[in-house]
Amino acid sequence: MPNNVFPSRHPLVAHKLALLRSITTKPKKFRELVRELAILLCYEATTDLETEPITVTTPMGEAAGQDLRMGIGLVPVLRAGLGMVEGIWEMMPAAEVWHIGLRRDERTLQPMQYYANKPVEPRVQVCLILDPMLATGGSAAATVSLLKEWGVTRIKYIGLIAAPEGIARLHGEHPDVPIHLGAIDSHLNEIGYIVPGLGDAGDRQFGTG
Ligand code: PRP
Ligand code: URA
Repeated sequence: MPNNVFPSRHPLVAHKLALLRSITTKPKKFRELVRELAILLCYEATTDLETEPITVTTPMGEAAGQDLRMGIGLVPVLRAGLGMVEGIWEMMPAAEVWHIGLRRDERTLQPMQYYANKPVEPRVQVCLILDPMLATGGSAAATVSLLKEWGVTRIKYIGLIAAPEGIARLHGEHPDVPIHLGAIDSHLNEIGYIVPGLGDAGDRQFGTG
């Protein structure tokens, strides 16, 4: 495993992932779990963000503190990544949210871009790509390439479940991008789904399955 791939070892993540995977979990609960898992994984993925020392006045005197001045861009990959935004945004209300719409062609499994919305000039120092499923890695690699074309120099990927094939592709094309994951599963099946995975992350969130 490359040294910038970080599968979570947190018991809460493991517990919530098991609930998320279950075929009996309905869309409302599924969305809650996606939101909670995104917060937990974002917490792990952002431990190295730089802060600046500040002093604050408490009712009892002066206290040394830290200020997170970095501009952060949250980049959900539509549709399924949308459910990972809100919880993280509550933790980082100053973050910008850039939307990228990608849909996998069911036959070729190639990502097809249908939407992109970001500021004219990047004003952020780091972008966090949010997408629950890293399957073939095509969508993730295409998203990183797009962000790099837009001038973003520091990018992290946060996903809930990955196949080894997706990790290999994303890391192979973009070795500079740390990959933070809830779990790494066994393999992809013949139609590009992660096994055992959780099925279709978009359909399970939006009730369209
Ligand atoms: C899913 C998922 C990823 C992509 C992963 O999206 O959210 O974006 O597949 O597959 P890959 O690693 O093989 O590219 P999907 O195309 O199903 O669209 P949706 O989120 O709109 O349902
Ligand atoms: N997209 C999903 O939603 N699930 C998979 O298993 C693979 C791609």
